Amino acid sequence: MKKLIEILLDDIYIQSFIIGLILAVFLSKLSRRTKLNEPPLVYYRFPIIGHTWSYLTDCNKLILESREKYGETFSLYVFGQIMTIIGKETTHEVFRKDQDFSIREGFRSLVPNHLIYRHAANLAETNAKIIREFAAGKLTHLISRIQKNIIKAIDLYIGECVEPKVIHDPRNILADIIAISTANIVVGEECYNNEDILETFKTLTSSIFKLLQIPPILSFIHPWLHEQFITIPLRFGWNPISKHKKVILNRIKPVFENRLYDKKRLGDAWVAPLDALQCHLNDPEVTPDLDPNNVNYEYIVDSFCGIIVSSMGTTLNSASSVLYDLVKRKQHFWQELYQEAQEINKQCNENELTIDDIARMIKLDSFVKESLRLFSPIVSLPHKCISKPCYTFANGYQIPSGRMAFINFLDTDNDEELQGQNPTEFRAYRHLERNSPATKVERNFLTFGGGKHACPGRAFAVNNIKIFIHKILLKYDVKTNNKEIEPKRYFGPFPLLVNDDLVFENRKEIVN
Ligand code: HEM
Repeated sequence: MKKLIEILLDDIYIQSFIIGLILAVFLSKLSRRTKLNEPPLVYYRFPIIGHTWSYLTDCNKLILESREKYGETFSLYVFGQIMTIIGKETTHEVFRKDQDFSIREGFRSLVPNHLIYRHAANLAETNAKIIREFAAGKLTHLISRIQKNIIKAIDLYIGECVEPKVIHDPRNILADIIAISTANIVVGEECYNNEDILETFKTLTSSIFKLLQIPPILSFIHPWLHEQFITIPLRFGWNPISKHKKVILNRIKPVFENRLYDKKRLGDAWVAPLDALQCHLNDPEVTPDLDPNNVNYEYIVDSFCGIIVSSMGTTLNSASSVLYDLVKRKQHFWQELYQEAQEINKQCNENELTIDDIARMIKLDSFVKESLRLFSPIVSLPHKCISKPCYTFANGYQIPSGRMAFINFLDTDNDEELQGQNPTEFRAYRHLERNSPATKVERNFLTFGGGKHACPGRAFAVNNIKIFIHKILLKYDVKTNNKEIEPKRYFGPFPLLVNDDLVFENRKEIVN
């Protein structure tokens, strides 16, 4: 086989054919542009490579310069594909027009979820509904559990720090903490606390992202080829998450059966637990006739994989961004936020926080929102144009069906009119001045997306992060290990994650 490939690649005719094929695909892609009033394609020097190199190595500069030169809507040529970049004037048009732009299709083009879990396509709506109705709708009732679990996890993973304790991998600890509070409300009280299920919550997302580490070289010819290539192992039966699926199934099945048994036995006297598992038990399509032999477990497991992917990485990255921003700006904000935390703690007599107590952490809320705003990617939220044969923007530009439209976060985040003074600077109380909580989806804050598909888990995530930081402020003094936290850096459009050592020490003085 190797020999055959060598002979083929050595052959001048074959070489010419391959190069000719690549050029033909490239030229045909560009020639298709002429029929529509497309946004300007930013100038590039090298055919085929297009903007790929600058997109990967200095995306910030590429986007800022292109925006300045070509206006708020323009196109780039990256990994063989034309992508349209949408500026602040058009962002909300894309969010609003969910008949014409699909973020689910957009993500599906980048991550072949439909091959990783079979029910992925049908589950997007179900999961959004579960999270909207249960994790957001019933949050008031979940706060007590979330809190208990965060306290338990902090004690377990950080513990008493009478002497300064250096934590070498803070992201790992944070992942443990978030896994506990998330697993509790997804798989339920009965089984969330098992080591294997917590490990699954912690690591499932990165197992999937291993597939995405393969650079999309074949996309230079066609994205379909890249997708075929990275999914070869899946087609031969290897699945990066099969071990996680087994863990989830083994843990939830006995719980589900017990609940069905109790429900039948106790009838109306049975009190249904509050978690995502119960949402599936209540769904007659998943659990017809409450028959334990007829439960669609594969569907439930796939649903939980989807929820884990949506919730764990996003919350972990956000919580870690807030913690490092706080440690970095310790001198200016730690004491003030500690005082707010202590005030609220006193008002609730050191009892459990209610959702209203958490809402009263307004300085912390603004700090969290500012951290999330500035932790944004440069461009993200791929929305696939599904309007046939093309979509015409309010500004007159047109893009063909199938084109990926990416939101230019910088355009919104750097805008003085939208953000107030010094938009690129970290101003912790900028959102407090505008009385705008971190969970609010609005024109100047894109962290949770927008429109009909705006993140339904945002209230859960923000409350989790606020409770965590509140408890840390009350209990510890946290600093870096004699090293400055590095300034923000990017890989392509994504901010690189910080994981510098942190030193925790029990807080000594109590300020009244
Ligand atoms: C700080 C943490 C989080 C961030 C930054 C975040 C961000 C996002 C974004 C940007 C979207 C796409 C929005 C759009 O299409 O306009 C989204 C969708 C979604 N998020 Fe989150 N998310 C977070 C936490 C969570 C959590 C904790 C859950 C579940 C408990 C969750 C569940 C979902 C679901 C199910 C969707 C899909 C909604 C749909 O397709 O209609 N997210 N999230």
